[in-house]
Amino acid sequence: MVISDAIRYVGVDDKTIDLFESQYMVENGVSYNSYLILDEKVALMDTVDARGMEEWSKNVDRELDGRTVDYIVVQHMEPDHSGSLAYAIKKFPNATVVGTAKTFVFINQFFDVDLSDRKLEVKEGDTLSLGSHTLNFVMAPMVHWPEVMVTYESSEKVLFSADGFGKFGALDTDEEWACEARRYYFNIVGKYGASVQALLKKAAGLEIKKILPLHGPILDENLGYYIDLYDKWSSYTPEKKGVFIAYASIHGNTKKAAEALADKIRALGEEHVAISDLSREDMAECVEDAFKYDRMILCAATYDGGAFVPMEDFLHHLQIKTYQSRTVGLLENGTWAPVAAKSMRGYLESMKNVTILDETVTIKSTLKPENEEAMDALAKAIVAAGESK
Ligand code: FEO
Repeated sequence: MVISDAIRYVGVDDKTIDLFESQYMVENGVSYNSYLILDEKVALMDTVDARGMEEWSKNVDRELDGRTVDYIVVQHMEPDHSGSLAYAIKKFPNATVVGTAKTFVFINQFFDVDLSDRKLEVKEGDTLSLGSHTLNFVMAPMVHWPEVMVTYESSEKVLFSADGFGKFGALDTDEEWACEARRYYFNIVGKYGASVQALLKKAAGLEIKKILPLHGPILDENLGYYIDLYDKWSSYTPEKKGVFIAYASIHGNTKKAAEALADKIRALGEEHVAISDLSREDMAECVEDAFKYDRMILCAATYDGGAFVPMEDFLHHLQIKTYQSRTVGLLENGTWAPVAAKSMRGYLESMKNVTILDETVTIKSTLKPENEEAMDALAKAIVAAGESK
């Protein structure tokens, strides 16, 4: 794929992987992006997962058209990008490997290669001339690993953004960017909002015409839209006003209560109410929705002295992804000793700036007319919380 006269796409799609990072469902696969910059000197920008090495190598050879690589720029050492690095180092024996100090520590941990006379360690602000193209290295620690840097090519005003602005889905997937980019962001980079904010501040000082991420499509128009979403996501600002209801129901009675609550909230005029079954729906999608909306209601059956396991699992995910700055309501169910709310509250209290509504609903086995008052109160409270924002 030709991005410009000098910049070529040499990445690969992976449509056979079962789970990305051994945990995320990717129904439409994922792309491992890699690029070549062809100038007086040739730079290879990252490699690909070992799963795509053969196809990638052919792509590189096709675009090189008999030339060789002078620099192998390693922006990120996670194996979905460096899985073919040892092969590239051998394939291009005269190439200098470019990375941060930590990059070289990680190369030695992952591979048995001797780079003593062929490495270039770079730091913030360093530049590398390829001829008419100049690479400007911008450190981006913890977006998503500590060794990460991004690279701004100043003649074409292109930002090679590493994992930033990445998205699940092979490149030929026809789908809305934000949906799968949001699921990717919150589940993979979400914990590191402050690091992403720091990178966005540096990027704000650059004139950027194209963003070339390591996953997903190249972004070359309406860049303000993508940057604005990244700013919201990384500052933990809710993207949408609405209520996400997540339930963990064993025999369907808590599910019925969750659905009844959703109806009440909609009847009060709340425009966006999303509801998910934590036992059956993609956990990563549920995490994404929790971050997307400004409010959430958690509904769980009691199980083994806590909340039903899918809810405990969900809250653990939210905790490690640093869920914060939102309002949450609780509904618990229990046949003899309902304690799910206590457990859910424990997780939420450990999170930053999460307001827990007082109007917790407790049902015993099934929703009964005597629960109506409490249900109405919770519905009104979550709607009012949205109106006060
Ligand atoms: Fe796409 Fe953090 O690797």
